[in-house]
Amino acid sequence: MHDTLLLFGATGDLAARMLFPSLAHLLRDRLLPDGFRVVAVGRQEFDPDGFREWLSERIEGFVGDDMKAREWVELFERTEYVTADLADPASIPEVLGHYAERPCVSYLATPPALFIPITQGLKAAGLLDAPSRLVLEKPLGRDLASAREINAAIRACAAEEQVFRIDHYLGKAAVQNLAALRFGNTLFEAVWSRRWIESVDIMIAETTGVDGRDGYYAKSGALRDMVQNHILQLLCLIAMEPPSALDADSVRDEKLKVLRALRPMRPADACTDVVRGRYGDGVVGGRSVTGYAPPEGTDPETFVAVRAYIDNWRWAGVPFRLVTGKRMPTRSTQVVVNFRPVSHWLFEHPRREKAAPNRLVLKLQPEEAVELGLMNSLAGPEWGAQELKPLPLDLTVHRETPRRIAYERLLLDALIGNPALFVRSDEVEAAWAFIDSVIAAWTAGSCPVHPYPAGSWGPKEAEEFLPGALTEPPRPE
Ligand code: BG6
Repeated sequence: MHDTLLLFGATGDLAARMLFPSLAHLLRDRLLPDGFRVVAVGRQEFDPDGFREWLSERIEGFVGDDMKAREWVELFERTEYVTADLADPASIPEVLGHYAERPCVSYLATPPALFIPITQGLKAAGLLDAPSRLVLEKPLGRDLASAREINAAIRACAAEEQVFRIDHYLGKAAVQNLAALRFGNTLFEAVWSRRWIESVDIMIAETTGVDGRDGYYAKSGALRDMVQNHILQLLCLIAMEPPSALDADSVRDEKLKVLRALRPMRPADACTDVVRGRYGDGVVGGRSVTGYAPPEGTDPETFVAVRAYIDNWRWAGVPFRLVTGKRMPTRSTQVVVNFRPVSHWLFEHPRREKAAPNRLVLKLQPEEAVELGLMNSLAGPEWGAQELKPLPLDLTVHRETPRRIAYERLLLDALIGNPALFVRSDEVEAAWAFIDSVIAAWTAGSCPVHPYPAGSWGPKEAEEFLPGALTEPPRPE
């Protein structure tokens, strides 16, 4: 396990919200090696103790309540701050060259525009000599062309097996459980195809807003921010063929086939198969919030719903409704697999039209739960007169928010060198190819960005995209 982490973008939002708190938790749990140290690299200048003070003010509230001062002191003691001009490859060998005596993990939590100069600087400094590794945060580019450019530049400096591309959704225990559920049970594989499944909903609803990331978000929008990575990775786990083994490449090969089979969006379908929205003023969780006003000349969406199709043998014709939005009424990530109705309906109560087809609801956050919606007769007085009702079979795993935050798992894997939960360059490019087709289609179709009030389920134009399981009233006791 490598013991030196060079953290670029150390003064950024992600470092304060996720990376330093995750490292503190890992230290608390004694999961890091004895000589572990963090070299925080940024453009800002600090006095010798300035960075630690700056950080301690920012990370409060992002760490577990059980964190003790001792662990913080330990993290601070193991962290040193170095100022470097990240846009200038020559600056890195100069200020960081002496770290090359030990294998390191360089983590680039910076805007993608800096990936190329930093990687070139690391290469020149000997900091990418195997077995050193490189971790890249999302976004990996903003379209296929920029992703290819980044991948090519990285390839010139490091071998693919040294490069760890993060999609933090893959670090969530509940997301890994999708594979366990699919491939650990005989039941599901038998019905996992167009023959039995009518449609699939994948939704990530957030209550948070753009929240101080205006600059990034204005250029990104929800499609690039959430669908290109997190939602398409969930889609891959749901739709991929069973891999022959769980090693990184066997799984990535199968995910790649799904991404390549995504049907490019046609301009003629853009305005029916994509709905974009942007939140205005409203109330979320009882609190009034202001709408998002992007800078002049930009038109980003904070909500997007896409109807996607996977053109292969297993999924031909099955719509995958991909939805994500900010400032929704509740936080909820879920996948809903809607099965086809039974072929011949025998019952009077309810009549066929009112019967609820089977549905598998995979809740990923905030709670982790699996519900299988079945029809059952609770009390049938006479044969043939039973009243059938939807009865969910509840396989809840964790009612609470997951135990270990995703970044802890991923940081640990990057230090150990386990690539299984990271994304390969060809996956990133295949995902961008699909996203580019959606953007090109909505541009050609001049599809509007519809307003929606904060605290609602998005624009009314997107109603048909919302999984019923999300907005339904709670089931009776
Ligand atoms: C990030 C996006 O990748 O994921 C954010 O940039 C989003 O906009 C976040 O809020 C959601 O992550 P999580 O783990 O809170 O669902």
